[in-house]
Amino acid sequence: MSETKEQYISLAEVSKHTKQDDMWVVINGKVYDVSKFVDEHPGGEEVISDVAGKDCTREFEDVGHSEDAVEILERLFVGDADPSVSFYRYGLL
Ligand code: HEM
Repeated sequence: MSETKEQYISLAEVSKHTKQDDMWVVINGKVYDVSKFVDEHPGGEEVISDVAGKDCTREFEDVGHSEDAVEILERLFVGDADPSVSFYRYGLL
């Protein structure tokens, strides 16, 4: 039987990616690299850079983003986030 180990991206790692040319966010437990998208975001660059290196599930869902937005996300997928990223953002850690 082969040994498989799930690899989650840690809070420490996600938190490093806060610069305009190296920016990650987490939505619904998944890490996205938004570096190449942040400039062209229809809702503006600032709302995303405000949550750079963090979970922004609540902000993303509150806007009621379209199916198009969800498709864009798929192209930016990096990997699965450790749950501590979300716990930290929402004050549960
Ligand atoms: C990081 C991933 C995100 C993607 C891929 C994304 C994508 C999009 C897209 C495609 C639109 C156009 C409308 C639509 O299709 O729904 C949009 C609009 C908008 N987004 Fe985002 N968004 C992201 C994150 C966020 C975040 C974190 C916020 C924070 C509040 C935000 C706030 C908004 C707002 C306010 C609009 C409306 C702009 C307007 O119509 O005037 N977005 N976004």
